Amino acid sequence: MKGEGLAGVDPVAGNCVMRLAPLAIALLAIVGCADLGDEPPNGAPPMPTVSFADDLQPIFNIDCANCHTNGATNGGLDLNEGASYLNLVGVASPSFGTVRVVAGEPDSSFLYQKLTGTQSDGSMMPPPGLLTADKQELVRVWIAEGAQDN
Ligand code: HEC
Repeated sequence: MKGEGLAGVDPVAGNCVMRLAPLAIALLAIVGCADLGDEPPNGAPPMPTVSFADDLQPIFNIDCANCHTNGATNGGLDLNEGASYLNLVGVASPSFGTVRVVAGEPDSSFLYQKLTGTQSDGSMMPPPGLLTADKQELVRVWIAEGAQDN
């Protein structure tokens, strides 16, 4: 009975392959994940740690209120939510010509200069008193990380 013999072997061989297949897939998955690692691919910028919307806009809303928000635009600068980003990054001061935010360069950015008292024109901001060191640092890091609309 040739037919019976073959029929008896083939299903066993088939079962063996079927049992190994999930193991092989699991191994591939583990090796694949290990390859990804935590680092971004070469050349990609690191993930920003400071958010414009979540970290900086609240500072503008509280510390710059009524001089650059709520209808006031001292120095031609509107820092209301929705307008603030477009008025800062790559935009020159209409009075002094200094660019307000140069992406990646806090020390060259008029905004950061004004907050730290290193500006060559006009007053330190905010005029009523220094911004806390923590808040100054958030602005510095956000600019250094590329001044993204994040
Ligand atoms: C009490 C009102 C007042 C407050 C509060 C205030 N500012 Fe100002 N700001 C001004 C005035 C007036 C000017 C224009 C004169 C000058 O540049 O010194 C100005 C100018 C600026 C400029 C320069 C604009 C340009 O392009 O010429 C920046 C940048 C600025 N402020 C940022 C801020 C930030 C950020 C805050 C909050 C942390 C703030 N200011 C809070 C009154 C204020």
